[in-house]
Amino acid sequence: MTTLSELIGRDDANDLDAILSVDRPYAEGVIHSVTDNCEAIFTWDYAKGQRPALNKLYEKAKDAQWNGETDLPWDTDVDIERSITSVFGEEPLWEEIGLRVEGTPMASWGRQEWIRYHSEMNNWTMSQFMHGEQGALLCTAKIVETVPWIDAKYYAATQVMDEARHLEVFVKYLDEKLDGHYPLNPHLGMLLDEIIGDARWDMTYLGMQIMVEGLALAAFGTMHAITPDPLLKKLLRYVMADEARHVAFGVLSLREYYEHLSEAELFERQEFAFEAAIHMRDRLMAQEVWERMGVDAKTGILAGKRGENERLEDPFQQLLFSKIVPNCKKLGLLEANDGWLRKRFTDIGVIQFEDWADTGDEYESLSIDAGDPEPQRDAG
Ligand SMILES: [Fe+2]
Ligand SMILES: [Fe+2]
Repeated sequence: MTTLSELIGRDDANDLDAILSVDRPYAEGVIHSVTDNCEAIFTWDYAKGQRPALNKLYEKAKDAQWNGETDLPWDTDVDIERSITSVFGEEPLWEEIGLRVEGTPMASWGRQEWIRYHSEMNNWTMSQFMHGEQGALLCTAKIVETVPWIDAKYYAATQVMDEARHLEVFVKYLDEKLDGHYPLNPHLGMLLDEIIGDARWDMTYLGMQIMVEGLALAAFGTMHAITPDPLLKKLLRYVMADEARHVAFGVLSLREYYEHLSEAELFERQEFAFEAAIHMRDRLMAQEVWERMGVDAKTGILAGKRGENERLEDPFQQLLFSKIVPNCKKLGLLEANDGWLRKRFTDIGVIQFEDWADTGDEYESLSIDAGDPEPQRDAG
């Protein structure tokens, strides 16, 4: 069995000093290359619809294409300060966002620092989404090459277009409405590198469609619900409609494949899912934002802890696992090997979501009819 140290680079998943001390290779240069180790697979079995659920998803995706340039209201005047104060208040309200700041530099912050903190956090969050979308673009292009089923190749091709569009709109929003990108967070970067570098086609799905996109779907839903910016609201709503299909693509494809794997093979998938969960939990600590605010990252992150113990607990961030855990359950990954992944998810405080709705068919309720100018506002 792989040790925790071999899996995630440290013996204690919650070791904050180790989390904060990782290298940051993603802030340098313009190009980052990863060896993808894959074989491109042709199939001569062209019979369409052998996998009816994937075929249905493909037909849906063809009708659900939208244009990021023309379908979103880019002429909206985005006033970030007004958005921040309407959501978070005019003055620091730390308790309301779950931080305890007594004895920290944040205790003396006033209105200006409060707004700047949220503004930086917004830029950081949108920047990570942007980088994640590029990761999804590369992963899905890889799936087109590596998956052996024609229905899956067809569907994955539509997802490549979806991800190009998502990347395009996040870049445009950051460039035109916000002020400045953040580099790719090192924890998210390590995860994307590992997903892309794995030779096994199902690991691309597990890492991207189940873990990264599962978290993104939950995060977009939360942001969509709270943002007062009509441009961002519509952008997120359109992206969510696509992402729900992408997660469904992962669940539908892997459910069939995992039924035929041995316990030993499933164990490798359980380890991979746990490693991905840890990387994503670590990246959500947003250490770069604290540093840019001139606050020691550990001080900022520890202010977000609740309770008396030294564990990293944050109800909002745990909620971001609300799609991942039920989807892992549906794939049989929680229970295999005497519940190994169930125990790990219990350790990091996210197992409570296991019976939430899985995302195998959530895409139906999140879909936007092509050309519909008024998408449903509050799904997700
Ligand atoms: Fe996407
Ligand atoms: Fe996606």
